[in-house]
Amino acid sequence: MGKRYILAVLLLAGMCSGAAAALPEIALLPPDKTRGTAVMQALSERKSTRVFAPEKLTRRDLSDLLWAANGVNRPDGKRTAPSALNRQDIDVYAAFEEGVYRYDAPSHSLVPVAEGDVRPVKAPVVLLLVAKEDTDYAPIDAGIVSQNIYLFCSGVGLATVTRGSMDADKLAKALKLPGKQKVILNQPVGYFQKTSKEKQAEKKGEK
Ligand SMILES: Cc1cc2nc3c(=O)[nH]c(=O)nc-3n(C[C@H](O)[C@H](O)[C@H](O)COP(=O)(O)O)c2cc1C
Repeated sequence: MGKRYILAVLLLAGMCSGAAAALPEIALLPPDKTRGTAVMQALSERKSTRVFAPEKLTRRDLSDLLWAANGVNRPDGKRTAPSALNRQDIDVYAAFEEGVYRYDAPSHSLVPVAEGDVRPVKAPVVLLLVAKEDTDYAPIDAGIVSQNIYLFCSGVGLATVTRGSMDADKLAKALKLPGKQKVILNQPVGYFQKTSKEKQAEKKGEK
């Protein structure tokens, strides 16, 4: 009876977590805090870009992007983004073609959430900024995380745009969010699409 019961529980647990369990582990690198342009140059080059090259982000870029967005930057656990009353109320999810993960800031790691493509737009990764509680401050706090992403991207030469357009309810279901939680913004990130001139120059360089 004991063994059968344990087996049944294990099988059920496997079935329930199956969707996320099939996702590969993505091990993040510790952030490289020395890279990127000066802050004034990053501000001067910040812009929205809506077309992305198909290449996936490198592990280096993905790791630094997530940390810049809302990582822990002090021993007391506070973040790169300020939050009203230090509620730290914004979770960053990373949606790839294969599935979606939650960025766990304290451990600087990606936790698998669900298999399948939930990206509202096609880009190598779409960051989903999720408020843990539906408060007046949540959209403000999400906006600040979004600007962190913009400044990181402009500082290291990545393309991004913040987006309010999406089916937030559909995404909430896909992310298995509890009732109080809400997707506020989605932000695709990728490399700039090369112009035909740049592609031609690259080809010539190869010869
Ligand atoms: C809260 C917010 C929501 C936005 N939603 C969208 C959107 O759904 N789709 C989109 O293409 N751009 C969206 N944008 C980007 C703006 O269109 C863009 O920032 C604006 O045109 C100025 O261009 P710039 O970012 O290059 O300065 C949004 C921007 C903000 C701040």
